[in-house]
Amino acid sequence: MSPEIAFDLDARIEPGAYRGLRAAVGWSEPVVGDAELAAALARTWNVVAREGRRVVGIGRLLDDGALYATICDMIVLPSHQRQGIGRGILEYLVERSATRTIVSLVATAAGRPLYEAAGFRLESRGSVGMLIRPA
Ligand SMILES: CC(C)(COP(=O)(O)OP(=O)(O)OC[C@H]1O[C@@H](n2cnc3c(N)ncnc32)[C@H](O)[C@@H]1OP(=O)(O)O)[C@@H](O)C(=O)NCCC(=O)NCCS
Repeated sequence: MSPEIAFDLDARIEPGAYRGLRAAVGWSEPVVGDAELAAALARTWNVVAREGRRVVGIGRLLDDGALYATICDMIVLPSHQRQGIGRGILEYLVERSATRTIVSLVATAAGRPLYEAAGFRLESRGSVGMLIRPA
């Protein structure tokens, strides 16, 4: 990884930067306004990877502080992928949730190898991950 990459912990993610990262990896535009989006982004514990002032990657942790935590929005700009930035972000999120009973996530095909390398599995002690997409 380039020595110019810095990781900000417990970081604020601006709605504009968030929308830009999503668009860069082909994800849908969130159908909420900036105020609502900023509030949502402020409810998670965020890791932001920066190159100078530019945001090049993010990861978010939805955490109840005691039992359960969920990792979401792991995104690294295509121009900066396969340089260890995603792994770096994930390590901070996993470290932050080290004492939780369950740490869960929904993996894209792109994310799966990274998560498997970090120990995430489709099944654990007979339980499997399930999800629906109401909106
Ligand atoms: C998933 C994502 C965040 C990974 O970020 P990244 O910075 O490229 O990941 P890293 O460079 O830290 O990769 C760490 C390891 O994960 C694995 N990995 C990552 N991307 C991979 C790919 N496309 N194919 C195979 N293995 C991959 C490799 O083992 C890699 O280590 P290596 O490069 O030494 O072989 C990034 O590809 C991305 O933003 N994808 C689009 C959005 C997305 O789908 N996010 C996941 C949401 S669940």
